[in-house]
Amino acid sequence: MIKELLNKLFGNKDVSPAMTQTETATHKENNTMTTYTIFGRGNMATAIAGILTKGGATVEHIGSADSASAKINGSVVILAVPYPAVDSIIAAHKDELAGKTVIDITNPLNFETFDSLVVPVGSSATAEIQAKLPQSRVLKAFNTNFAATLSTGKIGDITTTVLVAGDDADAKHALITDVNAGGLDALDAGSLKRVHELEAVGFLQLTLAGSEKISWTGGFGLVK
Ligand SMILES: NC(=O)c1ccc[n+]([C@@H]2O[C@H](COP(=O)([O-])OP(=O)(O)OC[C@H]3O[C@@H](n4cnc5c(N)ncnc54)[C@H](OP(=O)(O)O)[C@@H]3O)[C@@H](O)[C@H]2O)c1
Repeated sequence: MIKELLNKLFGNKDVSPAMTQTETATHKENNTMTTYTIFGRGNMATAIAGILTKGGATVEHIGSADSASAKINGSVVILAVPYPAVDSIIAAHKDELAGKTVIDITNPLNFETFDSLVVPVGSSATAEIQAKLPQSRVLKAFNTNFAATLSTGKIGDITTTVLVAGDDADAKHALITDVNAGGLDALDAGSLKRVHELEAVGFLQLTLAGSEKISWTGGFGLVK
């Protein structure tokens, strides 16, 4: 009963426990085969690449200039671009993205008002992307972390936690493992439905920093 409920909340497969420290160290040594392709070369792309390479993964970047023509070599693709840029990437690479894990990190803010998100009420950017990429495993991750807290691995005195959500338990587990290997905490926050809440948290955190109530090196931390 509890297991069924967890599977409903956390995706359509069994929930995998996080790796032990020893397993993480072994993973780091053996992880040179995992290649991530990151669209974007900005603040978040750089910070995320730092974590993944520290964990032993290989990372390649595709910038805006070669976005339409570049070949995707990675088995995992990270969309570290503004939300409005995502559609052009999907249009150019939909077939190539089939069968891959696609990680959406966007906060789909309405930059005209700074007062709402541009996705349909009750939905999420990630759900919109998953609908456009039905053959891909689309996850949300990193949107509740400011770039600086990914680079330093700290929010105040505590380790930065990356929240991950989506419907594919294996894809989530693989990303969580790679983030752990890079020295940060990561947590399965639930199924694709929970991304709505992750985007609300990211939005709130942005408004707090934008109004200078918190700094861009701060933000929400997680204490277990
Ligand atoms: N900054 C944060 O702390 C933070 C936190 C959470 C989530 N996010 C989200 O992360 C995403 C990236 O933010 P950021 O702060 O890293 O922005 P950024 O520093 O401005 O970088 C954006 C990058 O996207 C590239 N880009 C734009 N269109 C592209 C395309 N079609 N193909 C490939 N690259 C493209 C830009 O390249 P050019 O410079 O060549 O245009 C640039 O390298 C946004 O969706 C944001 O909402 C940011």
